[in-house]
Amino acid sequence: MALAEIGGTPAGGVNRQALSDGEIAAWRCVIGWALDAGLTPSTDAAGNLFLTLAGRDRAAPPILLGSHLDSQPTGGKFDGAAGVMAALEATVSLAEQSGTPARDVMVVAWMNEEGSRFAPGMMGSEAFAGERDMAAIRAVRDTDGTSVGEALDRLHQAFPDLPHRPLGFRPAVYLELHIEQGPLLEAAVCTIGIVTGIQGKKTFQVVVEGAEGHAGTLAQQERRDALASFARMATALHDEIGTIDADIKFTIGRVAVVPNAPSVVPSRVSFSIDLRHPDNAVLDAAGARIAALCRENASPCTVTVTPLVDATSNAFDPHLRASIAEASRKQRHPAMAILSAAGHDARHLAKICPAAMVFIPCRDGASHVEHEWAEPDHVAAGASVLAQVLRELALAGSLSSARA
Ligand code: GLV
Ligand code: MN
Ligand code: MN
Repeated sequence: MALAEIGGTPAGGVNRQALSDGEIAAWRCVIGWALDAGLTPSTDAAGNLFLTLAGRDRAAPPILLGSHLDSQPTGGKFDGAAGVMAALEATVSLAEQSGTPARDVMVVAWMNEEGSRFAPGMMGSEAFAGERDMAAIRAVRDTDGTSVGEALDRLHQAFPDLPHRPLGFRPAVYLELHIEQGPLLEAAVCTIGIVTGIQGKKTFQVVVEGAEGHAGTLAQQERRDALASFARMATALHDEIGTIDADIKFTIGRVAVVPNAPSVVPSRVSFSIDLRHPDNAVLDAAGARIAALCRENASPCTVTVTPLVDATSNAFDPHLRASIAEASRKQRHPAMAILSAAGHDARHLAKICPAAMVFIPCRDGASHVEHEWAEPDHVAAGASVLAQVLRELALAGSLSSARA
């Protein structure tokens, strides 16, 4: 709740954009708690924040757990923040109850998970996993023209004493707690979701170019109205892609009109497309239709479609899933297997190490909204399950035998 005051909105939500003053203030808060608990903070070139509990074998691959501290512009208190706080709590309680772990345990807050200020998101985890080049990430600009590079340097300047570690390493495992962001756990009256994987996602940036003109004088048949072309594209996309089957998720979430004046024919429209489906074949087929549907409806304007994200559905580590199930059973929390419909940094970590996620319910399944809410008992249950899985991994000398 203290963290939610940073970037808190009048409607009770959170607007804490990646690399903003709000995120800097959130770092200060979390670093303060970590230092009080004896953890060591550090950062890397991608603006990820690490909080380390030193283990006996400093050379062994660390156990990594966390989530993100940035939010959507009209986001909630729990998306990301619950996972960072649960990871911190699990690590601090491990130190308090069990002393020094066999290997390092590191809490992480990934840079720009949401991708609302700088698109696409998951920059920190993708750079960490070696999937995206830092030079390309630093060149991305927000709508005010500020680059990730400039904002990243500003963040680092705000923490001059924070040690920098090399970008990326191979963790022993990665764990992430998150609110479900959907209605399934609540409907099943389950406190813990054992996440099987994350559904595939593609995103696109589309730009429609027409020509400006006077709304009162330019003849209708002479117009190249970019907004009119956009309206036809949006209808065609929703009608064809949005109706593929019950599992498809198609969203045009951001539209920018130029010059956006009541009496000027719009010359340019840029818009975002977010497309998701659990079946990679269906997702690929739907994604392959996007550019064609835009082109078929562009005339008399022109259109450019740029793919941004192409992430397939993945499956999380079966041993870690079994450990989460066992911890839930021991703690008597009703649990069920669940596919994540939302995207998470764990998707990228799963490419370099065994990874898994713990879900907890959120009220009415609502997320990316200001009234997002998770019951304190559920947050505590999720953190306790995470702590138990962490404890078993952290106290085992050899992780492979612990997981066998
Ligand atoms: C992550 O925030 C997503 O949009 O799935
Ligand atoms: Mn999130
Ligand atoms: Mn989110």
